[in-house]
Amino acid sequence: MKPPLFFALPGNESLGAVLAGRLSAELGELTVRRFPDGESYVRLESDIKGRSAVFLCTLDRPDEKFLPLLFAAETARDLGAARVGLIAPYLAYMRQDARFQPGEGITSTYFAKTLSRHFDWLLTVDPHLHRRDSLSEIYEIPAKALHAAPVLSAWIGKNVKNPLVIGPDEESRQWAQAVAGGNGAPAIVLEKKRLGDRKVEVSAPEAGRYKGRTAVLVDDIISTGQTMVAAVKHLAAEGFSSPICLGVHGVFTENACEDLLAAGAGAVVTANTIPHPSNQIDVSGIIAEGCREFLGG
Ligand code: R5P
Repeated sequence: MKPPLFFALPGNESLGAVLAGRLSAELGELTVRRFPDGESYVRLESDIKGRSAVFLCTLDRPDEKFLPLLFAAETARDLGAARVGLIAPYLAYMRQDARFQPGEGITSTYFAKTLSRHFDWLLTVDPHLHRRDSLSEIYEIPAKALHAAPVLSAWIGKNVKNPLVIGPDEESRQWAQAVAGGNGAPAIVLEKKRLGDRKVEVSAPEAGRYKGRTAVLVDDIISTGQTMVAAVKHLAAEGFSSPICLGVHGVFTENACEDLLAAGAGAVVTANTIPHPSNQIDVSGIIAEGCREFLGG
């Protein structure tokens, strides 16, 4: 049987090349562009008949990426692909997981249902499972969530002396402990109140015990950056200067990264699930390992 073909959607080419290399897979040729009227044009130039197709598409800013991705998957199926998988290092639409106001759509469920109709399997890194235990609660296909905690932990071990790891909220306590644990560092969590899309209040009631350590804020997502901005300011007032901000997924809406540095962050560091100059943590190794399960070996 021929090896799988990896197709990187626009913007995912460099991680695609690394993954194909790590898995000794072949990189397929995929063209995605817009017609003048704004509709999407998709063409698979590699022969996919009878082979597994693996699409790599990180899903920050998902609305503009989603239709070309579905068209590419359907094209592969139409051309005879044996299986069609999706690696989405950042999985979108995980945060609206409940009806907070009457009439709201629970978009995480609708998004999961739609992806499940077009792909045979899904691989992602640290999806935002806040009120859910696993992806299988909403995904109808085999869906695997990989954990970046060990690589975050390794980065801290190499780059930060005497760290204090601080998670974003009570639900993240175990995760923050896993990130801290590898270095024998303490982990605490913030008390967080979200007052709106861009308004967050935090406090770090346990921080006082750890004065003298370097504060390392860890979060799964940095989006508007307001959670971290509030935390950086709060920690500065408590005597922790220049906290390091570590995010798995740097979504960074508008000037979020610059705002964080202006608020007093000592550094902003993310994993390469979403391409950004702050990417210092490489997750290609864990993605490649996770992928083997779906590719049969
Ligand atoms: C929320 O529960 C997440 O863990 C993050 O704290 C949140 O997504 C960060 O968002 P923002 O950067 O917009 O404050």
